Amino acid sequence: MLCASVVVFSIVICGSWSAEELKFPPSFMFGAASAAYQVEGAWNASDKGVSIWDKLLHDHPELVLDGTNGDVACDSYHQWRRDIEMCEELGLNMYRFSISWPRLLPSGFPNYISEDGKNYYNNLIDGLLEKGIQPLVTIYHFDLPQYLQDLGGWANPLVADWFQDYAEVVFSLYADRVKYWLTINEPMGICDGGYGKYSAPYFDDPEVGRYLCNKNVLLAHAKAYRIYEKLYKDQYHGKISLSTLFFWFKPFTPEDQEVTDLTIEHWEGRYAHAIYSKEGGWPPKLEKLLNDLAKKEGYKYPRLPPFTPEEVELVKGTYDYYALNHYTTRLVRRVKPGELPGKWFFDGSYEIGTIMFKDPLWDTTVADWFALYPEGLREQLHWLNSTYDLKEIVITENGVPSLDPGLVDTQRLEYYRDYLEQVLLAIQDGINVTGYNAWTLMDNFEWMGGYITKYGLYAVDFTCPNRTRTPRESARYFSAVTQSRMIRPTQGKTKLNYV
Ligand SMILES: *[C@@H]1O[C@H](CO)[C@@H](O)[C@H](O)[C@H]1NC(C)=O
Ligand SMILES: *[C@@H]1O[C@H](CO)[C@@H](O)[C@H](O)[C@H]1NC(C)=O
Ligand SMILES: *[C@@H]1O[C@H](CO)[C@@H](O)[C@H](O)[C@H]1NC(C)=O
Ligand SMILES: *[C@@H]1O[C@H](CO)[C@@H](O)[C@H](O)[C@H]1NC(C)=O
Repeated sequence: MLCASVVVFSIVICGSWSAEELKFPPSFMFGAASAAYQVEGAWNASDKGVSIWDKLLHDHPELVLDGTNGDVACDSYHQWRRDIEMCEELGLNMYRFSISWPRLLPSGFPNYISEDGKNYYNNLIDGLLEKGIQPLVTIYHFDLPQYLQDLGGWANPLVADWFQDYAEVVFSLYADRVKYWLTINEPMGICDGGYGKYSAPYFDDPEVGRYLCNKNVLLAHAKAYRIYEKLYKDQYHGKISLSTLFFWFKPFTPEDQEVTDLTIEHWEGRYAHAIYSKEGGWPPKLEKLLNDLAKKEGYKYPRLPPFTPEEVELVKGTYDYYALNHYTTRLVRRVKPGELPGKWFFDGSYEIGTIMFKDPLWDTTVADWFALYPEGLREQLHWLNSTYDLKEIVITENGVPSLDPGLVDTQRLEYYRDYLEQVLLAIQDGINVTGYNAWTLMDNFEWMGGYITKYGLYAVDFTCPNRTRTPRESARYFSAVTQSRMIRPTQGKTKLNYV
């Protein structure tokens, strides 16, 4: 399988290019993405409730690289007109943003809907549509109301109903205009991050809380999907999915194929198999491995909380497209006897007994977990297309970090060129990728990376009260691509390493 795909790719590389072949289809949607806590600021404006990120970083500024937080961020709560203008400058067809749960429902519950919160998102949606830009709305991007956290948050099974109630309010307000929805962004960030001392609520509970959360986010997503299906789908024909953080993984040697398959089940399958597979439920090999492990560790309950048959049916098939957040590729190998597995979930798994690392041939970035391997995106799109029954794939995040606040961001420009080329090649292969969202529209509050870590097409001056936004070289490149709907082939600088 692996060797076959290598051969196929090298044939494409040696083939001749024609300008016609390099064009994105006319219906292809270019976009950029953001998230409420990372850009909105106005953390205590009007009647907004407190989120778990507000609370965590007010209590523990030391967790963030530069001791900052999202209190003001890009001030998009006030600067949203400029955000729309930037989408227009970039020639975007789509803008992905998220709704802040505690801004819309200050108590977390629909007993009270904030008028100012409601209007903020109405203005943003209407402003985008006036410019012909489709809103792609994420209902939840990490900012749980703190009050719901106090009631157990994502580890409490009731959270699935709380989320359904919140989503129902969101649909009732915006479903008439929003056609592309994401229920939840990166469940892995919520559960593996939130219960693995990486993101709010910053618990250290990788054996129990992490997996209770895992099941509950799937149920929450499914209940929101079903409500839309029942109440709004016939009328508005919108599409719903959830966005999955999915690095691509390759075995270091052919002997590492089995642990690489398990790694894919651990990363992606835990949040996708129940939704996209024919049989539903947990990925079977991983379920056995984790539950055997829990038994060995003396736990009375399985690591992966079982689904009832009704729950399997509830969750199965709750997607209209696949939403992929892709950043990088990692090599995987089994640990040697006596060797310690990777400690952080980006570096390996103590449960599977693996280490993840980068091929020394791949170009590096400012993040040690992040190497450049554009071909990985195409290989992954092939894997997704052949593993699930997908009618449509939208890339909902793709981008590269830097530390340089300046406007000349050559590595980012080349990243977009090289990764978009792989998207185009996948489309030419016959995979229905219909959209691509750059992460991210502008520099913002990058969670534990604070304002030091930059991912923006636009630079933001965080010392200026207006949070002035200025396009980088990569933004000029991106708008040239959206205008011509073409990219020039790279003639395979990194591809040659691979072949
Ligand atoms: C909102 O928070 C800021 C600090 O970020 C504080 O200076 C301001 O007084 C607060 N406003 C209200 C209305 O509480
Ligand atoms: C790709 O997806 C779009 C949007 O759902 C759909 O209109 C189109 O028919 C699909 N194309 C193929 C080849 O399946
Ligand atoms: C992608 O999946 C569709 C539907 O299963 C299939 O018809 C198509 O041949 C696949 N494309 C590739 C390149 O494998
Ligand atoms: C901030 O924006 C306002 C409105 O666009 C403008 O009048 C003002 O000069 C700006 N201030 C700074 C410091 O750039």
